[in-house]
Amino acid sequence: MPEIVTLTVNPAIDIATSVERITDTHKMRCAPARIDPGGGGINVARVVQRLGGDCLALYLAGGPVAQRLARLLAAEGLPFTALQIEGETRENFSVTESSTHREFRFVMPGPSVSKSEWQRCLDCLDALQPAPRYLVLSGSLPPGVPEDFYARIIDMAKARGTRVVLDTSGPPLRAALPHGPYLIKPSFNELRQLTGQALELDAHCIEAALEIVRRGHAQVVALTLGAGGALLVTQEEVVRSGAVATSILSTIGAGDSFVGAMVWALNRNAGMLEAFRYGMAAAAAALSHAGTELGSAAEIAQCYREVSLSQAVVAHG
Ligand SMILES: Nc1ncnc2c1ncn2[C@@H]1O[C@H](COP(=O)(O)OP(=O)(O)OP(=O)(O)O)[C@@H](O)[C@H]1O
Ligand SMILES: [Mg+2]
Repeated sequence: MPEIVTLTVNPAIDIATSVERITDTHKMRCAPARIDPGGGGINVARVVQRLGGDCLALYLAGGPVAQRLARLLAAEGLPFTALQIEGETRENFSVTESSTHREFRFVMPGPSVSKSEWQRCLDCLDALQPAPRYLVLSGSLPPGVPEDFYARIIDMAKARGTRVVLDTSGPPLRAALPHGPYLIKPSFNELRQLTGQALELDAHCIEAALEIVRRGHAQVVALTLGAGGALLVTQEEVVRSGAVATSILSTIGAGDSFVGAMVWALNRNAGMLEAFRYGMAAAAAALSHAGTELGSAAEIAQCYREVSLSQAVVAHG
């Protein structure tokens, strides 16, 4: 069993295309579609694999899209376990307006998942032998899955000595935090929603992340700030990284790439700062690709050399 397992409760197939200009009413003739496997945990697993790591992608899926998803993953040689559900897996859609380079992302809610289906997922996680070193819980919860689903998984995983990396938002994030995931990767908006604060200044972001660490709700907060780079906050350090300069074709998959590379590095026993650098590098590498296409190992290595870290100033008192 791989040491890294990712869970995607709400996977997707991502369809990306472009059109000169987005308008209403009239037909928009699009460029040929690019099709990628999608959903947070699946993207994370793909990045780990590209970096040469061993990773299992566990996900729930149903209907014809599920079959296509399995074919796409098999073509990439990614180890996966698909738990079948009754509902039909979603397709997400993104369109780049080529005249303005704006990207429009349409995200579907996903199918309803029944109690016996999500219960089976819990059983499957608990039966992984040996227990993974890292379990990545990434993405939204589809209708029917209780808000405390990730919270329950964290309790089970911690009891087995697994470190949980959590990348989600809204109520599932709020419910999971007191259960103590090892690492969380909120984006700026996700942290704002979580705290209910405007977080206008860098110092406010740092204080909010430190509060999470001080309460023991997570040992590591990797707060990604889009074009503003990212902050790494632990008991020991508060470090900032600017975004790596790169041409941006699509921001899809940047956050997932960040998580994938960081977990890959941590599992190789890299130091926290080195892992953070890898996260920044993989995010930058993903930006230079259209749709959900992710960066290659060579591109990530190239970006790694361009990441610069600095100690962030922490206001005391
Ligand atoms: N517009 C951008 N310019 C430069 N770097 C970016 C940009 N958008 C994203 N990045 C890089 O990707 C990382 C992750 O992006 P972001 O903070 O948007 O998280 P996300 O998880 O993709 O967002 P969300 O989950 O809210 O959609 C950033 O820390 C940054 O390094
Ligand atoms: Mg994200």
